[in-house]
Amino acid sequence: MKFVSTRGGISPVTFDEAVLQGYAKDGGLFVPEYIPVVSKNQMEQWADLGYTDLAFELLRLYVDESIIPAADLKNLLKKSFSNFESPDIIPVIPFDKKTDTFIMELFHGPTLSFKDIAMNFLINIMDYFLQNKNEHLSILLATTGDTGPAAAYAAAGKKTIDCWPLYPTGMISEEQARQMTTLNAANVHPLSVENCADGGDDLDFVLSKLFGDVELRERMKITSVNSINWCRVMVQAVHYFYGYFKVVDKVGDKVTFSIPSGAFGNGFGGYLARAMGLPVEKFICANNKNAALHTAFSKGVFAKKDLIETFSSAIDIVVPYNFWRLLYFSSGSDSTKLKAWMDEFFDKGEIKFDEKTAASFQEGFLSVSISEEKTAQTINQTFNNGSHYLLDPHAAVAVAAVEELKDKLPESGKIICMATAHPAKFPDVMRKILRLEGDELPNQAVHSSLVKAGKVCQHLRLCDFENLEFALVEAITRVSDSK
Ligand SMILES: Cc1ncc(COP(=O)(O)O)c(C=O)c1O
Repeated sequence: MKFVSTRGGISPVTFDEAVLQGYAKDGGLFVPEYIPVVSKNQMEQWADLGYTDLAFELLRLYVDESIIPAADLKNLLKKSFSNFESPDIIPVIPFDKKTDTFIMELFHGPTLSFKDIAMNFLINIMDYFLQNKNEHLSILLATTGDTGPAAAYAAAGKKTIDCWPLYPTGMISEEQARQMTTLNAANVHPLSVENCADGGDDLDFVLSKLFGDVELRERMKITSVNSINWCRVMVQAVHYFYGYFKVVDKVGDKVTFSIPSGAFGNGFGGYLARAMGLPVEKFICANNKNAALHTAFSKGVFAKKDLIETFSSAIDIVVPYNFWRLLYFSSGSDSTKLKAWMDEFFDKGEIKFDEKTAASFQEGFLSVSISEEKTAQTINQTFNNGSHYLLDPHAAVAVAAVEELKDKLPESGKIICMATAHPAKFPDVMRKILRLEGDELPNQAVHSSLVKAGKVCQHLRLCDFENLEFALVEAITRVSDSK
């Protein structure tokens, strides 16, 4: 299996090259030359597998034995999920019997968000490839609060990797920041960036500039582990299969997935699973007030709007870059068209798609933009309905989306809502929503790892957005040159 760029400007590369480069050299995103399809019979044989065994079967469709031998792939997967708190890795629990709705808890990894699922594995395989090549890389990433901790934690102590997570000052929770700044690892360098008007999107902009300069990128020896990196979205296809097998009566039944969406990495994982053969009724693309994806799915317009700060801050995204991957595949892998669309978007800040194109990428997707009031109401209702189940604000967006769209869903059929973070990562927001006084918090919004991180010294590195590009080049080059 080889990998090409969505912009069509490079020769196909092998899996290890796609993973280590992160961005394709022509500024496009890596995609496989074709999407492997899994038969119904094959799915029936996999239906009872545990998460890591299922991941092994699915990932080996993309990772040739000559790149990672089967025994090594198994070990890397085992190692990547050994520090998850739940023995199931991803528990899928009944949520609402009346509507046949389930919650897929994706937050039992070491930093309590769904980012741990693909990040642990990605960084372990990067380390594996770099050790084999005797090389070193700096991973540079922007975070809206969860990718950074997951990357920092996964990279901590690795000799082949230095990790530079950037976050917009004051736009992620104190707990998320501390997950990065309290790690005792000399190879992790979190950077708080002040004055980012567009939050994480501002950081993405600087990173795409650095990654777009191939000569500079090679000199700095940097790569991306944002969901730009193909490995992230590929691993994120696995939990759709896993959740599906957990809830269906028989393989072939159709399931709806509700996904709190930001950069659309998780959403694209779902698209990939469906393209591989998973029977999906609908994907619900659940946005908060930052509704770029909802506008694309409902109106056929992809437009950059100003950022709105919300309770579900990790999905406060104005340019969901994995939408390009969806467009690429839904347009029949047409890199010429994709390049023209990307150029138009970066030029004018908006694309109005013709009806045929819009219909092709909208197929099987519903979408909605959830208000702050609805998010708060969903959390309160769920918590106070006797079960005391506490949704984090992102999971609440997914659950609220199902309710808002119920008239567009079939009368029967299972629904899985994705709970992408632990509520303990957002204590201030939870207090506000649950209308609690002082330091009061229910046990469901507390996690011992965060309590511990709240008590120790932080290693802080600050930079103003205006100086970010210069400061990064200087700091990373200095570290890379010393390796
Ligand atoms: C808690 C949480 N939920 C949802 C998302 C959205 O995921 P994606 O960016 O893949 O759409 C994120 C991403 O930052 C997140 O941290």
